[in-house]
Amino acid sequence: MTATVRVLAPAKINLHLEVLGLRADGFHELAMVMQSIDLADELICDNTADGQIHLSCDVEGLSTGGDNLITRAAELLRSRSGFNELGASIQLKKKIPIGAGLAGGSSDGAAALVALNILWGLGHAPADLEVMAAELGSDMPFCIRGGTQLCFGRGEQLEPCSPADQAMGIVLVKDPSVSVSTPWAYGECRRLRGASYLEGDAAFAERRQGLRASDWLNPLRPDTPPPLQNDLQTVVAPQTASVRTALALLEALPGQLRVAMSGSGPSCFALFANREQADQALEAHRSSFEQAGLACWSCSMQPEGVKLAP
Ligand code: C5P
Repeated sequence: MTATVRVLAPAKINLHLEVLGLRADGFHELAMVMQSIDLADELICDNTADGQIHLSCDVEGLSTGGDNLITRAAELLRSRSGFNELGASIQLKKKIPIGAGLAGGSSDGAAALVALNILWGLGHAPADLEVMAAELGSDMPFCIRGGTQLCFGRGEQLEPCSPADQAMGIVLVKDPSVSVSTPWAYGECRRLRGASYLEGDAAFAERRQGLRASDWLNPLRPDTPPPLQNDLQTVVAPQTASVRTALALLEALPGQLRVAMSGSGPSCFALFANREQADQALEAHRSSFEQAGLACWSCSMQPEGVKLAP
């Protein structure tokens, strides 16, 4: 068994988030395109072989108890192994903002599965880890595989698509004092848009096919920028002032191709033809984001999910 494993857990943005309807299990049926970006948390996992899972974190306000997806992932992996004596001390270095719609918590849980599989010498294939990940959270399989993926079902059914042009740049912003609960956002979507939800597998299949065939996705490149549809934005933005401010400031950036909220928000982003343009736009307008109380980053797309830290 290995002594220490360090992994990077990247954030994601939604290039497309379409709420199709309600499923029999109470979740929403989705048609999404998710994209990994190079804003990442780091997990440092030490082998303790004492039957304990110990989690520590470098930011306040994040639970390090049994409800954290890292702890839940570690316990699931250990219970499936049948080796109760397995233990780990996990240090989380947080860079992805919390409650942001960037899958930070999901990516951390996915990273724990990948890291502990190596640390404990369990030998699960990535596909097995993705099945376990889906038990813990709808977007966790994506966080393991990463890159550019079509995501259907609850979000856990992944289909490959042409990888995005990696040269494209992103400016990402978020009010550090605001977070949006994912169950609340989906609940509001159902309340406000439920009457127009599609019904039945045939209708869902038709929309999935429509997304697969989208021009902008084959492949994603700056000369055919994606429309950036996010159905949750239409219910979250009217009720969240910081989302409206973020979208307005991003729209004013020179060179931006498209602007949208990510996931259930409140983080928002703008796409650029390349990283240099994103960097320049951010530097020229950093003070307007800061005056509005928004934290901001420039990022690149990345072609993979969780990976070993260099
Ligand atoms: O799967 P996950 O734990 O990330 O989902 C969090 C919550 O978001 C669910 O309990 C549900 O309220 C909502 N959700 C949904 N439909 C999805 C994914 C999430 O309604 N496809």
